[in-house]
Amino acid sequence: MITSTSTNTTADIETFHGSSLELKNLTMAYGDIEVLRNVSLAVAPGTTTCIIGPSGSGKSTLLRGVNRLHEPKSGDVVLAGESALKVNPDILRSRIGMVFQHFNLFPDHTALENVALALWSVKKMSKAQARERAHRRLAEVGLAERADHRPRDLSGGQQQRVAIARALAMEPEVMLFDEATSALDPELVKGVLTLMASLAKRGMTMVVVTHEMGFARKVADQVVFMDEGEVVEAGTPAEIFDNPRSERLQRFLSEVL
Ligand SMILES: Nc1ncnc2c1ncn2[C@@H]1O[C@H](COP(=O)(O)OP(=O)(O)O)[C@@H](O)[C@H]1O
Ligand SMILES: [Mg+2]
Repeated sequence: MITSTSTNTTADIETFHGSSLELKNLTMAYGDIEVLRNVSLAVAPGTTTCIIGPSGSGKSTLLRGVNRLHEPKSGDVVLAGESALKVNPDILRSRIGMVFQHFNLFPDHTALENVALALWSVKKMSKAQARERAHRRLAEVGLAERADHRPRDLSGGQQQRVAIARALAMEPEVMLFDEATSALDPELVKGVLTLMASLAKRGMTMVVVTHEMGFARKVADQVVFMDEGEVVEAGTPAEIFDNPRSERLQRFLSEVL
């Protein structure tokens, strides 16, 4: 849900009212192979949780379980107090926005159309209303001038900001980011991270899989270290980065920092 105070009309002062999210003993498998085992995690409304860990540890699978791009084998995902496993998946995905490493924009549509499409097809808005909201969301991510550009005519950083605007346009209660800056040229990373930090500050509930340890340290309320399909440690940035207890986390940090 997104609201703005009645005296203000510009998009940039809007605050979000993120929902709570809880994973309870989440277990996920591909075929017979379990890649996530008994993961439990609580994300308070309006807070940011960063998930770190080596490649193959199950970070993407966890996010895919939350919005049911891949169905959990057992356990539960609780969104705003109700089981997400009981919500219609299309409705669930409009309540939980997801941003991927490779943007996943429609190449033959403009930035504006990419943001507006789901508003009329899923949210059943009129085309005029959808375009109006899409314009506002693009302005909010600094792309008002690029509304009529196709993805190929935008930088990677701009494409990712369109993808974020598209997710925000659905007025999600939670935003998931899966290595949202990993495919970007180094000079474009900062703009996207700054945008993500501003969403966190405005009260969105966010779960962010990232290799950007500086971002995790600065923005996260909670950092979760995963390895081999399990949560090994979770805590504040200071606990995780300054006082890692497990040998596995110590080794991981020594490799990435
Ligand atoms: N579609 C899939 N089919 C089979 N195995 C998969 C699939 N996707 C991921 N895996 C396996 O699941 C494990 C966790 O993968 P993933 O969640 O992508 O890890 P991460 O995002 O932390 O790198 C890995 O061993 C990976 O090879
Ligand atoms: Mg991954």
